[in-house]
Amino acid sequence: MSSEERKTAVGVCGVGAIGSAHASALYGGKIAGAYLSALCDTDPERRKKCAEQFPEVPIFSSHEELLASGLCTVLMVATPHYAHVPIAMDAMNCGVHVLSEKPVAVEVSVARRAVALAKERGVYYGVMFNQRTSAVYRNAKELISSGALGELRRAVFIATAWYRTQYYYDNGGWRATWNGEGGGVLLNQAPHNLDMLQWLMGMPVSVYSDCGISLWHDIEVEDDAVITGRYANGAAMVFVTTTGDMPGTARLEITGSKGKLLVENGRLKIFINTVDERDVRNSAKVSFYRADGSWQDITPEKDGRDGHEIVLENFVAVVDGREERLVCPAEEALNSLELSNAAYLSSHKGASVSLPCDSAEFDAMIDGYRKHGRTVGAGHVEYHDEYSARWRP
Ligand SMILES: NC(=O)c1ccc[n+]([C@@H]2O[C@H](COP(=O)([O-])OP(=O)(O)OC[C@H]3O[C@@H](n4cnc5c(N)ncnc54)[C@H](O)[C@@H]3O)[C@@H](O)[C@H]2O)c1
Repeated sequence: MSSEERKTAVGVCGVGAIGSAHASALYGGKIAGAYLSALCDTDPERRKKCAEQFPEVPIFSSHEELLASGLCTVLMVATPHYAHVPIAMDAMNCGVHVLSEKPVAVEVSVARRAVALAKERGVYYGVMFNQRTSAVYRNAKELISSGALGELRRAVFIATAWYRTQYYYDNGGWRATWNGEGGGVLLNQAPHNLDMLQWLMGMPVSVYSDCGISLWHDIEVEDDAVITGRYANGAAMVFVTTTGDMPGTARLEITGSKGKLLVENGRLKIFINTVDERDVRNSAKVSFYRADGSWQDITPEKDGRDGHEIVLENFVAVVDGREERLVCPAEEALNSLELSNAAYLSSHKGASVSLPCDSAEFDAMIDGYRKHGRTVGAGHVEYHDEYSARWRP
């Protein structure tokens, strides 16, 4: 038996900016236990490029043909957003496991259908939330889960390090259109941060949002958003994102009754109160009290590998039964989508929205945007031989 036969066959559907990086990682043997078995892209130029770069790998012009070939055990879906779920569901119906690029879908209602089908068909369904593999965030998660911060009170996430030029949008074809992308910064760049927020804090019970449409670029979707939210225990969050700030900021501060953590510039710091705030409140016989403790830098070792490679390798290992848990099962990816759906709806209504939001109301809203939205044209696609630094946390 050849080594390829012992490895899991992984196909890539949509070989653009990120799909080409996934294909290169597989083709270059960087993903243990997997090999690149097939490719698919609807664009003839892309297929020509793939034939040069991955000479002996079969390439198809539609995902239906790729699935009919029976060449894939796993399919990595890296197309524009609206195609994620239809392709994923067709693959599931062929018994193929699916690792989808983020966002899992545009509408939560659509994503839920795919999650249900994966269960029914008994296939794995994961989502490429590569920032979950980052050491600072994993450490932050462990600290919170261990109770080191006590009861969570507040999260302030400034996720504005997503600067994009007008050139980026003008060349994107499907990008920044209601009909091609289904949203702007909240659906393309910020899902990583929204996923991190819900991963560390859990889900709020309500959100209020103000999405700035076409504020800093000539586009029809939002390039700026401010979301506030409340959790069941009264904790609060503020989430700020844009593709317009230069320089931007990537700063997450989470405060609990026992202290605070801060993730910024790839560093993790923590401040632990010597006394829990609840005990101070209940027993201190003074009116004012200054937190007693000190900041500790507990930045872990730098990430050794690219997070996308880790997520892909983990997915294959779970399919093969060598690992138990996916980095991000699709059910968990519903949460970040739930947050962005609720944020769009809140901004549209100018009112606070309870979670889970009314998905029929969201679907009607986005249908209306699409009806009056621009027609999607062809775009210029970038081709990457490896993962770009801009896709890392
Ligand atoms: N996880 C990350 O870090 C990360 C980074 C970049 C992009 N993404 C996500 O990956 C997806 C793709 O983004 P991109 O920047 O690579 O886009 P892109 O436009 O560069 O590439 C998309 C490719 O899909 C092809 N395509 C379109 N419809 C298709 C279909 N029905 N079947 C087969 N191929 C089809 C296009 O021809 C194109 O080559 C998006 O969902 C995006 O949000 C994720």
